[in-house]
Amino acid sequence: MEFKEKLKEYQDIINNQLQKYIKKEKCLEKNLNDSVEYSLMAGGKRLRPTLVLATYDLLTSGEKNEKCFPYAVAIEMIHNFSLIHDDLPGIDNDDFRHGKPTNHKQFNEATAILAGDSLLNNSYIVISNDVLNQTDSEDIKLRLKIFNEFSLAVNKMIIGEYVDTEYEGKNITIEDLEFIHKNKTGALLTLCVRMGAILANCSENDLKTLTLFSEKIGLAFQVKDDILSEIGNEKELGKPVGNDKERKKCTYVSQYGVSGAKNILQELIEDAIKLVRPYGEKAEFLIQLTEYIRDRNK
Ligand code: IPE
Ligand code: IPE
Ligand code: MG
Ligand code: MG
Repeated sequence: MEFKEKLKEYQDIINNQLQKYIKKEKCLEKNLNDSVEYSLMAGGKRLRPTLVLATYDLLTSGEKNEKCFPYAVAIEMIHNFSLIHDDLPGIDNDDFRHGKPTNHKQFNEATAILAGDSLLNNSYIVISNDVLNQTDSEDIKLRLKIFNEFSLAVNKMIIGEYVDTEYEGKNITIEDLEFIHKNKTGALLTLCVRMGAILANCSENDLKTLTLFSEKIGLAFQVKDDILSEIGNEKELGKPVGNDKERKKCTYVSQYGVSGAKNILQELIEDAIKLVRPYGEKAEFLIQLTEYIRDRNK
């Protein structure tokens, strides 16, 4: 199957699963639920849940990947919580995402804050329900381990967002910049790969290799985001271009320039591919997904 077709297949699975968690009924908090749906179903690439499923598929042969669904849904909820809050006036103060007004612009600030909170909390409900649905003690243990890793990764994202915001307009070292990117973005991508691998009952060796792979693509993903924020096409991207510069953000572009950032990106992509090549034909999708992270325009 072509890469694009396979990616679309994963995205369709994820969109179908997410639909199950959209609340449509009439109630006092209807507007809050609409605001959650507005962001969750706005047309994101679904990269994170795709990584969960694709990593699981890499390590299993023909086994149904349904056991990953709660984790795929939960990580996409967290991702959208992070985007809603990232766009708020107190953080990046952005007006557009996915080609539409940001959540707080479409609804209002209070609703956007609470929609983010709701997504955060619902991700834990989804995971804890999956733990409670298990009967085998090994299955419960494995999922509790994932639950713990999930919480720790979300914490890293929050820390990364804090440092990113706190250091706007200030001089930071290259190490600090790497810290921001690895935390605000890399941690969740690493979590996705590790969740897929752990659910596949992989070996310690596989987990180590795939964690290294995820760290490379996690950083690469944010370096590309920095590049797109400088030279991307606003229409295609669906979010503002030039906003990092405007807010004097510390990015790979502000530190290394566009061509320096592109070189770092290329190196990260090559390193990542090298790590999964030994898996042979089965790694083809992850390799192409890695190239997609480099080549994407949105
Ligand atoms: C944007 O992530 C935020 C970053 C971590 C750079 P994505 O580009 O994956 O967001 P969507 O969901 O596909 O829009
Ligand atoms: C990405 O933040 C990380 C999170 C949202 C957690 P950015 O501020 O760099 O991402 P965009 O460019 O707004 O999507
Ligand atoms: Mg930000
Ligand atoms: Mg932002």
